[in-house]
Amino acid sequence: MTDPTPRLEIKNLRRSYGGRQVVDDVSLQIMPGQVTCLLGPSGCGKSTTLRMIAGVEMQDSGTIHVDGKLICDTVFRVPPERREIGLMFQDFALFPHLSVADNVGFGLKTGTKAEKRNRIEDLLKRVDLLRYIDGYPHQLSGGEQQRVALARALAPQPRIMLMDEPFSGLDNRLRDGIRDETLSILKEEDTAVLLVTHEPDEAMRMADEIALMRDGKIVQQGAPYNVYTRPVDRASVAFFSDANVLEATVNGALADTVFGQFLAPGVPDGTPVNIVFRPQHLRIDFDRAGKGPRPTATDGAPARAVVERARFMGNESLVEFVLEQDGSRLRATVPNVFLPQPGAVMWLTVRRDRCFVFPVTR
Ligand SMILES: Nc1ncnc2c1ncn2[C@@H]1O[C@H](COP(=O)(O)OP(=O)(O)OP(=O)(O)O)[C@@H](O)[C@H]1O
Ligand SMILES: [Mg+2]
Repeated sequence: MTDPTPRLEIKNLRRSYGGRQVVDDVSLQIMPGQVTCLLGPSGCGKSTTLRMIAGVEMQDSGTIHVDGKLICDTVFRVPPERREIGLMFQDFALFPHLSVADNVGFGLKTGTKAEKRNRIEDLLKRVDLLRYIDGYPHQLSGGEQQRVALARALAPQPRIMLMDEPFSGLDNRLRDGIRDETLSILKEEDTAVLLVTHEPDEAMRMADEIALMRDGKIVQQGAPYNVYTRPVDRASVAFFSDANVLEATVNGALADTVFGQFLAPGVPDGTPVNIVFRPQHLRIDFDRAGKGPRPTATDGAPARAVVERARFMGNESLVEFVLEQDGSRLRATVPNVFLPQPGAVMWLTVRRDRCFVFPVTR
């Protein structure tokens, strides 16, 4: 069987501004009905990538294909309005002087008046705003306007939807509901979606696949679970959560730490490494009159630490420790309420299978 053709395929896209490579060899494939999140910190080149796909920005090199057909390389270029790409950006501004129906119908170029009206009604029903069909944007709340903008973007049945932080203007309570609704409508329409965000939570919630971007490059790509549990470097761990970092030097393919030895296969002797783990994988034990828990295969050696601060965060507590042995600071999260006094002595262990060993690069 041959592989199905991706709805959107970009290959080796590059763009520089003033000698700085802002998008650096970015390649992606998105299948119909698939949501891919381009996730990365501010300034890493996400919007520039999206603008090149939309056709409002020209790449220096690289190609864009839709359903296997070339739509843009450095000589040939289908104009933006003929790309069958829907756009939804943070500043999605509706046309204030047009009714809700006319806003939604704005991009409908073909069909009779009745057909257009049907499509508009159908979309407004799906975003649950049919009752406002003859209203005007200023009569709607921010969340309702967002849904009209979604209906407007979907009306011409785009093959691809590009969304650039489309939910960031909404308050938290509205956002989750609108994200979920949007997602189910896009799936129903079998649209390929590229969603840009700098929020890991949003990407985890929305994406079938996450492409983690940094300094113009995609550093890692895969299902949310894989990207979260098999990060490629320290920065990738830290992008999703707080990260604890231990420093060590490799000797005989092993890195020695207060929590015992960690395997560092293939890393040459003398290389500095970071052992990185998330706060939920630090385990806390009581002092038991100076005797810590026994070392185990899964948790390694225990180390004594002093509580520096403990805070209640709602569904978990965050406890900050200073290790007795070397003064390094570590953070633990504990479900529910756990608020030990500052100065209390405790024993810590780490889930060894949740630790990542990375050679220090700079
Ligand atoms: N037209 C332009 N001229 C010069 N520099 C630009 C231009 N557009 C973008 N840049 C620069 O390219 C870099 C990437 O910009 P881009 O908007 O793609 O980032 P982003 O990942 O979308 O960030 P954010 O999350 O803040 O929106 C930034 O440093 C930006 O200043
Ligand atoms: Mg941006």
